[in-house]
Amino acid sequence: MGDRTKILVAVAWPYANGDLHVGHLAGAYLPADIFARYHRLVGNDVLMVSGSDSHGTPVTLRAEQEGVTATEIFERYHRRFLETQRDIGISYSLFTHTDTANHHRVSQGMFTALLDHGYLYTESQRQFYSETLGRFLPDRYVEGTCPHCGYTEARGDQCDNCGRILDALELSNPHTKIDGSIPVIRETEHFILDLPKLADAVLAYLNDDKEFWRPTVLNFSRNYVKALKGRAITRDIEWGIPVPVPGYEGKRLYVWFEAVIGYLSASIEEAALRGTPDAWKDWWYAPDAKSYYFIGKDNTVFHTVIWPAELIGVGRIYCDEIGANLALPTDVPANEFMNLGGAQFSKSRGHVISLPDLLTRFDADAVRYYVTVVMPETSDSDFLWDDFVQRNNGELVAVWGNLVHRVLSFTNKHFGEVPRPGALSTVDLELLEKVGAGFDTVGAQLAGCRFRSALSDAFALAREVNRYLEVKSPWSQMKVDREAAATTLYVALQAIDMLKVMLAPFLPFSSEKLQIALGYSAPLFGEPVIELVGTPGDEHEVLRYDANRATGLWRRQELPAGRTLPRPEPLFAKLDDAVATEELARLGS
Ligand code: MF3
Ligand code: ZN
Repeated sequence: MGDRTKILVAVAWPYANGDLHVGHLAGAYLPADIFARYHRLVGNDVLMVSGSDSHGTPVTLRAEQEGVTATEIFERYHRRFLETQRDIGISYSLFTHTDTANHHRVSQGMFTALLDHGYLYTESQRQFYSETLGRFLPDRYVEGTCPHCGYTEARGDQCDNCGRILDALELSNPHTKIDGSIPVIRETEHFILDLPKLADAVLAYLNDDKEFWRPTVLNFSRNYVKALKGRAITRDIEWGIPVPVPGYEGKRLYVWFEAVIGYLSASIEEAALRGTPDAWKDWWYAPDAKSYYFIGKDNTVFHTVIWPAELIGVGRIYCDEIGANLALPTDVPANEFMNLGGAQFSKSRGHVISLPDLLTRFDADAVRYYVTVVMPETSDSDFLWDDFVQRNNGELVAVWGNLVHRVLSFTNKHFGEVPRPGALSTVDLELLEKVGAGFDTVGAQLAGCRFRSALSDAFALAREVNRYLEVKSPWSQMKVDREAAATTLYVALQAIDMLKVMLAPFLPFSSEKLQIALGYSAPLFGEPVIELVGTPGDEHEVLRYDANRATGLWRRQELPAGRTLPRPEPLFAKLDDAVATEELARLGS
């Protein structure tokens, strides 16, 4: 099939310094996964990559707090990220990390290319230095008061309150995160990415036919480019990727410079793992390939400005023979924040819902459903426990789960197979027409990254099927006219089969169950697995998913009459009302 579009689904790389929480899921991983699954169902070639962000001061600070090595911290959380994301069904082609030999090589290669192309220069910079610790204090090692909003716990790299990217020297009342001491300022030499030199090209990119972008993302990015200054992309730390220039071996690449390169290096690693080492080029050099970056809003400029600048600056790296530059992001549908009952999720304040913990008590699809319903696409949103319970019971179970279970159990009891229908009436045909049209309408919403509307449109169709059943009432038809009942059930089963596909991007686990309940032998997607890969010295665990890369099921198909159906089981569980109170109590403790 030559008409499959190559779709790169690039997902923010989580810092490996703590468990994933609902904020991560809502911000990046879930929308990315829904989008990837949709495109696979359509029949497009999806490459979905991410990995643990192993470096940077978030990881070393945690290590220092615990008195262990940075490696120990990143390996611990990397392992947990693999399990958590497998369990909640984030279907990466590859989830790797940034401490692989491959990522080091690609990052150093990009650095060298930028240097060769004249986009890096060195400069002596004023940096905070701790006399008590005898070392420089980059980024998150210093906290102080934000010059923009006055927040007193702003970090040296970014303010958590107003979201602005900061230079540590802008903070007032600076103090060291480690021992509270007041840092002094010292000079040190760093490599600077010449962003002003790249600004025109980045602005041209941001001005070129981007009106389909989320307006906040676009405006924010365009404004940011107008005030671009050079940015230091090296640091005086020990944990990270060495600067590949003689005389600078003691310095490391800045985590934000190299983490974004992970999208490219992971694509390269994925192709190598499949034994087709050049395959990544189909996503990175082909003019009709598309790339979507799923991130939280605090990561916006790194993806809409700095990463494009890096890509423009390196130009034709690795691929002169293709004569094309590396692809710039097609879209960066950054999400806003999801708050927890009105207050921002905050790891440092312990005010989070950890995913590994959540998954011990709730089904992955129940969590996925609720987080999609309140996904912070255009403004911040709230995760509310009573709302979670109500929507689980009143929507997921009542509208969709019960529809499926009523129809499948009744069919099983009286027919044991997909019933053979009589002639279809206008009402029957209209229902099938309406539900079938969902492949276009729900599909358009998904393709446009409007996941909340997509899900509510699909649920509106499930409600249509419920209304159809109320009108037809196969339960009473059965008593007087077996063929009429057979026809109704046949039609309802066709509708359920279609809705199963439309809901599969959101609810992959229950859709897989339903796939079996409807007598299919092949799964919709298959499952991502944790695997040990890499050559000696560079062995690492990854999450990989390689089955049914393109299934092409996103279209009307007939569930054949006469197919034997197994005994059905409920897809979802109703939650007790006490759950909300219990969960709130847990948060308080
Ligand atoms: N580690 C960063 C965070 O958690 C995100 C990095 S996204 C990347 O905020 F693309 F740069 F990797
Ligand atoms: Zn601020």
